[in-house]
Amino acid sequence: MKTFKIAVIAGDGIGPEVIREGIKVLEKVAERSGDFRFEFTHFPWGCEYYAKHGKMMDDDGMEQLASFDAIYLGAVGYPGVPDHISLWDLLLKIRKGFDQYINIRPITLLQGAPCPLKDSQREDIDMLFIRENSEGEYAGAGDWLFKGKPEEVVLQTGVFSRKGTERVIRYAFETARKMNKSLTSISKGNALNYSMVFWDQVFEEVSREYPDVQTYSYLVDAAAMFMVKQPERFEVVVTSNLFGDILTDLGAALAGGLGLAAGANINPEREYPSMFEPIHGSAPDIAGMGIANPLAAIWSASQLLEFLGYEAYAHSVIEAIEQLLTEKETLTPDMDGTASTSEVGDRLVKIMEETLIPV
Ligand code: NAD
Ligand code: IPM
Ligand code: MN
Repeated sequence: MKTFKIAVIAGDGIGPEVIREGIKVLEKVAERSGDFRFEFTHFPWGCEYYAKHGKMMDDDGMEQLASFDAIYLGAVGYPGVPDHISLWDLLLKIRKGFDQYINIRPITLLQGAPCPLKDSQREDIDMLFIRENSEGEYAGAGDWLFKGKPEEVVLQTGVFSRKGTERVIRYAFETARKMNKSLTSISKGNALNYSMVFWDQVFEEVSREYPDVQTYSYLVDAAAMFMVKQPERFEVVVTSNLFGDILTDLGAALAGGLGLAAGANINPEREYPSMFEPIHGSAPDIAGMGIANPLAAIWSASQLLEFLGYEAYAHSVIEAIEQLLTEKETLTPDMDGTASTSEVGDRLVKIMEETLIPV
């Protein structure tokens, strides 16, 4: 029997609450499959760990993680530790250190999921965002000069390398070709006169190698408007780190809320482990109350199954989520329900017991 070694970093706030439910689902899938199992190793890293040890992860944390098949992460960040420290020393350290340069975020309105757009059909909201995940506006390059003085200056430099820009755009073209969908690039060449002019140029160059893929290109401000007014315009989307961050929270709101939105940080060469996580953060406002929606974490568990080569099981998890959403009986308060986090997880596992056929 195959064993997949999964590193679990449940992290802060609602992270541990939602990850627990995701693990239940993964365990159930493995049990039903009969031909693989998971071995979960839990790492206590995060803001509590920081309070005790003065660091977000062990000094050799990256070496410890390197041998795993994948990482399953809850959320990082909590009041008491400055966000730029907690995120840069754990989440971003892993994304960058393991060269997880592709961030895949499906914005798909599932059956039964609530949508705030009154004129849109379910089929209209079916996008796959591919967010650049290693550099760009979040490269961490800059300086803080004359701190505290009247002449104080801060610099935050966007870094767009040819390698970094080309590889994410090429990955998006490959994805669009495989899915037989159009590809939309979102940028801002009118104002960002170096980085985004370059981005557009690379998009144009790479597009010549994919004459079979229909392309569109929008400025980010217009794209935000179209996502709300005409979401059907977007199929596969490629965009920079910052724009992808913002637009996928907007997308999450269109497709059922942050409690349902998942993301995968992928190192396509599989030289390093990839990492699966809900898009949302640690939600300090509801942490510890047992009411966090675990569906985003569960959807990211489905992405993990797909990454490991179990597409059919990945799809069954999404179908189980759709059944749960359609029943509308076991939902957390963010979806106007009264169920607890674990009740949602338990109901999902029950649905899977009834529907999951070993493949
Ligand atoms: P957030 O995503 O944690 O919360 C935004 C709002 O959405 C809150 O009202 C929260 O209650 C709600 N929400 C989020 N997830 C939910 C869920 N599963 N179920 C029900 N409601 C949910 O964003 P924030 O408040 O801006 O950030 C809180 C902390 O998380 C910060 O420290 C931030 O840096 C960090 N953060 C971490 C990640 C990550 O680890 N990937 C992502 C975003 C933010
Ligand atoms: C996300 C988060 C992170 C990001 C933050 C917490 C650094 O917002 O995963 O969307 O911007 O990538
Ligand atoms: Mn974000």
